[in-house]
Amino acid sequence: MTARVLVLNGPNLGELGRREPEIYGAQTHDDLIAACTATATELGLSVEVRQTDDEATYIGWLHEASRTGVDALILNPAAWTHTSVAIRDAAAALSAPYVEVHLSNPLRREEFRHVSFTASQAFGIVAGFGVESYLLALRALAAHLARG
Ligand code: DQA
Repeated sequence: MTARVLVLNGPNLGELGRREPEIYGAQTHDDLIAACTATATELGLSVEVRQTDDEATYIGWLHEASRTGVDALILNPAAWTHTSVAIRDAAAALSAPYVEVHLSNPLRREEFRHVSFTASQAFGIVAGFGVESYLLALRALAAHLARG
């Protein structure tokens, strides 16, 4: 059966392409979805990409992923990475592995971005490669899932 990967993007990522393009690049969120879909197809995975600016919705999606047997996740909690114990706790309860992804490299930026509440529960982290971060995460997860 085709492995199912859920990509959950947090606040302001819907504004990609318009938002601080010097940091986050020129690609839009629709471009991100298209790139993830193309790479997932190449890897034989099924991918669904969601974005919300609402923390409760994001937590609900994490609960849903625990219940519905998603095979792996890619999480970019965006600003919540640095603030949300609630998202960290929901991520910790996931049974499937997840990769934490960032378009920018938070460690090269302001000090408040150097803390990640979600990273300690992650299978791995990819940061700093723009939309390519997501594609690298998909490749890493495909290899991991293929190993069983
Ligand atoms: C981000 C980095 C976060 O620090 C920031 O708040 C974001 C995006 C990234 O993908 O580079 O909104 O998660």
